[in-house]
Amino acid sequence: MHSIIPGILEKEWAAIEQKIELVKPFAPVIHIDLLDGKFAPNTSFFDPAPFKKYTQDILFELHMMVEEPEQYLQAWSKQGFRRFIGHVETMSDQASFVARAQELGEVGLALDLMTDPSAITVAHRDLDTVLVMTVKAGFSGQVFSQQPLNKVTLLAKEELFPVQIDGGVTHESILHGLEAGATRFVATSYLFGGDNPESRYQTLLKAS
Ligand code: DX5
Ligand code: ZN
Repeated sequence: MHSIIPGILEKEWAAIEQKIELVKPFAPVIHIDLLDGKFAPNTSFFDPAPFKKYTQDILFELHMMVEEPEQYLQAWSKQGFRRFIGHVETMSDQASFVARAQELGEVGLALDLMTDPSAITVAHRDLDTVLVMTVKAGFSGQVFSQQPLNKVTLLAKEELFPVQIDGGVTHESILHGLEAGATRFVATSYLFGGDNPESRYQTLLKAS
C-alpha cells in the first residue's frame, strides 16, 4: 500500500492555509517545501509560526531545499513539524543533521534529480525515509522524469525505509514510481490543479 502526500510550495501564508484547509479533511500528512533561493532559484514562505495551529492534527514534513538545513530544525520543530528531509547536496555534515533531526522527529535525506545514492554517507538504517526527486528541485509543475527510477529501485530493495518520490506525480507517472518500488508520493500541481483535490487524491491512492 502506498501513500499520497499533498505538497505545498507557496510564498504567502494565505495560499498555504487555503491548501491546508482543502486537504485537511482527508490527508494525514502534508509536505511543505522550504526554499531559501540559494539551493535553487526560488523561495518559499519561511516562517514556521503560523503552522502551529495545524501541527497537532496533521503530520507535517519539511522538505528542506536550503543551504545547511540543520540550522532550521529547531525553529520548525518548535512549531510542531515532525519529519525533516534535508538535501544532501547542500549539507556539510549528514551525520550531524541526522542525529539532530532524530531527536526532534523522523529524518530523511533527499537526492536531487542528478544525485547518486552514493552521496548518502550515513548508515541507511539510521534513516526513516529517502526522497528521490523526479524533477530538478525548486519548482512545482515540472514534468516527471523516469531517469531517477533506477535509484528508487536500488533503495527500495534495501527494505530499510519507505522511498518517497517528489516531482511531476500524476495519475500516469505514479505508475512508473510504483513499479520502481516507491511507496510515498508527493503531489502538488496534479492534486491542486483540478477543482476537486480529494478526488485526485483518491485517484492517486487507488493507482496500481
Ligand atoms: C519542487 C518541490 C516539490 C514540488 C512538487 O522542488 O520539492 O515538492 O512542489 O510539485 P509538482 O507535484 O507540481 O511537481
Ligand atoms: Zn518537495
